[in-house]
Amino acid sequence: MARPGPDERRRRVTTHYPIAHTPPPQPVAPPSGAPRPRLTFIGTGYLGATYAICFAELGYEVMGIDINAERLARLSAGQVPFHEPGLDELLRRNLAAGRLRFSADFAEAASFGDVHFICVQTPQRADGLGADLSFVENAVTALAPHLRRKALIVGKSTVPVGTAEWVEQLVGKHAAAEHDIEVAWSPEFLQEGYAVEDVLRPSRIVLGVKSSWAHSMLHSAHKGVFDLAANEDREVPVVVTDFATAELAKVAANAFLATKISFINAMAEICEVAGGDVTHLARAIGHDPRIGNKFLRSGVGFGGACLPKDIRAFQARAQELGAGEALRFLHEVDLINQRRRGRVVQLAADLLGRSYGPAGPDLTGTRIAVLGASFKPNTDDVRDSPAVAVATKLVRAGAQVSIYDPQGMDNAAKALPEAEYTASLTAAATGADLVCVLTAWDEFRYVDPAVLGEHVAGRRIIDAMNCLDMPLWTAAGWEFRGMGRPS
Ligand code: UDX
Repeated sequence: MARPGPDERRRRVTTHYPIAHTPPPQPVAPPSGAPRPRLTFIGTGYLGATYAICFAELGYEVMGIDINAERLARLSAGQVPFHEPGLDELLRRNLAAGRLRFSADFAEAASFGDVHFICVQTPQRADGLGADLSFVENAVTALAPHLRRKALIVGKSTVPVGTAEWVEQLVGKHAAAEHDIEVAWSPEFLQEGYAVEDVLRPSRIVLGVKSSWAHSMLHSAHKGVFDLAANEDREVPVVVTDFATAELAKVAANAFLATKISFINAMAEICEVAGGDVTHLARAIGHDPRIGNKFLRSGVGFGGACLPKDIRAFQARAQELGAGEALRFLHEVDLINQRRRGRVVQLAADLLGRSYGPAGPDLTGTRIAVLGASFKPNTDDVRDSPAVAVATKLVRAGAQVSIYDPQGMDNAAKALPEAEYTASLTAAATGADLVCVLTAWDEFRYVDPAVLGEHVAGRRIIDAMNCLDMPLWTAAGWEFRGMGRPS
């Protein structure tokens, strides 16, 4: 068969729309009449607030919408309600420039915006593994009846595949048909602690669209990102695709990352019985560019608001779709992850000379310093934090636990009020029989073991993040245990 000529290839691109690598669409005028689309971000939690602030920084007129009055008041006053490096300054700058405001009024959002991003949470359902979509439903049904002209509603929240189609149906029910409101899906991939960079300089942008108008409007809504990249002589890969693929892009990425972490943690389990060192093993395999060394840090496993709940919701959705078998391995990924948390408690019992029975060890009378509460460094987020989970197990086992974290103390104190919280690393460690490093903050990684040794009751340490310099600690007289490392 003859190869298609350039004209035919071009025709295919336009007729088989949408496809990946579709060229930038012809610009269309924003329905509001503004020169650039005006953007709203519905839900001003971690995701929505970060996006709203960063897109204002890119020069867009932005409105953040939420039903939480206290959160809105704080944001309007220039205070970011969570810890994210660099965001405070951007918030204040863009409020002052008049490009950014916050409101609880959906009618105001509807009359202001051309593109409305849904950024609400999709937590794990209380009655199962699936995602709770009630926040998405509330956001769409609160906005849709107020829309008085054409607009684009774009999902950013992490959702089960099929949600975008359902959102379209909701819009069909709740918005006036004459305005022909369209829906698109564009997942986010931001990592806490690097969220500003991830929004301004994303590794890729995925656009799930059904029409050229939606593609065009969504492209315009990201043009600031493309312009910034062009100024910096970078390219941002764009994947233009259907709704299902766009939705899957997020959960598939997180499932892959979780699998990679659990893979190396499974290797840690093997090293523990075979006598190897998983940190060396990770380097030995990670230098293979096909494998890569990112996300091969063994330790206490993954936590946070995304990875754990996303792999569960993905399994639940696959089951509903009749493809549960395809994701059965994610159950194993979850189990490996949970086992790492138990392993720290086992090591604690071992170091403290307590036996480990079927109900766990009895750690009564011991004092344990827990360094770290946030699920990873550079955030105050303790949602499904391995550090808090391990601290909880230690408290339940009867230990007296004192916790220090540079940012996550307030949130941890709400999650685990039974522990003691101290103002410094040294205060937490003073009089401790055992120190557990459960979050890899730099403050812990570079502490002087000889100095810390002066404050503790016993020089015993568990490096649950494999982030400490083991020879340095053992040379300072500490009994040291890592994860998947020889003692
Ligand atoms: C993750 C994804 O990275 C991001 O793309 C998505 O949008 C949201 O979920 P985040 O939850 O911020 O981001 O954290 P991430 O940096 O991915 O870490 C997740 C967990 O994995 C943390 O508990 C971290 O400590 C752990 N982790 C990460 C490891 O245990 N080993 C590694 O090698 C990397």
